[in-house]
Amino acid sequence: MSATPHTPVPQRLDAPLPMTLPRLAEKKRLGEAIVMVTAYDYPSAQVAEAAGVDLVLVGDSGAMTVLGYPSTVPVSTEEMLMLARATRRGLTTPLLVGDLPFGSYEASDELAIATAQRFIKEAGCDAVKLERGGTSVQRAHAIVEAGIPVMGHVGLTPQTAIALGGYRAQGRTAERALTVAKDALALERAGCFALVFEAIPGAVTEVVMEHVKVPVIGIGAGPAADGQVLVFHDLLGIYDGHAPRFAKRYGEIRAQMVAGIAEYAAEVRARRFPGPEHVYSIDADELERFRAGVQRAA
Ligand code: KIV
Repeated sequence: MSATPHTPVPQRLDAPLPMTLPRLAEKKRLGEAIVMVTAYDYPSAQVAEAAGVDLVLVGDSGAMTVLGYPSTVPVSTEEMLMLARATRRGLTTPLLVGDLPFGSYEASDELAIATAQRFIKEAGCDAVKLERGGTSVQRAHAIVEAGIPVMGHVGLTPQTAIALGGYRAQGRTAERALTVAKDALALERAGCFALVFEAIPGAVTEVVMEHVKVPVIGIGAGPAADGQVLVFHDLLGIYDGHAPRFAKRYGEIRAQMVAGIAEYAAEVRARRFPGPEHVYSIDADELERFRAGVQRAA
């Protein structure tokens, strides 16, 4: 038996090739913008696949957008794995990154490796993401040493937003910007294949980009990053909660969903749904026999 891992074979010769780490690095080298979006289930993954994005992140933002928690903090590893498994089933081409939830990697290298392995083995992720510099740098290094690709995340790191003074832009003083830069460079040295910069001034991103060799994916970090990521529900206008100012809306899907359900409810109440086209038929003589049978049985 071949030891080569099974990679889904593209159906058409012109079908896009699955995204890999070398292809991602090549995109940076060529100056091609990298597109990442979050997804949390089978349909959102299928939508991301059909739209041709490069990377899909099963973000812990799913804690809020699909699980209804007030922040990313409460989501568990089991819940994230369930979202990641569903997302995996809907994807063929983009690289799939699983977000390690708060509390699932910080305490020790062993814990970080064990959790990262679950995302790879049990959910089929290609890589994992973790937040912050500091002790996360050592955790990222340990996971990379264990053979799992890691994406770092600096700037506004929602898992520790309280310690950062709330959900607000980071790096707006020279000192704070230097902290962001140092975290980014330390994560790169730890072996991260890419970095997320969240909510930092565009000019700070520009300066840090001069020193970072791995792809940088920005979210509220200006246009200088190698690519951009947005939260699926913010991007399409599905989420009803607060959306940050950097989250551009490309759709108003929630309004369409509410209108659709409201119209359905109105038609049911007015007995206009189901119509004849939604009903199964039965031959007249079968119906007659059935009627007689019911009468006998009654
Ligand atoms: O959880 C998430 O969606 C993220 C992105 C904002 C990068 O971490």
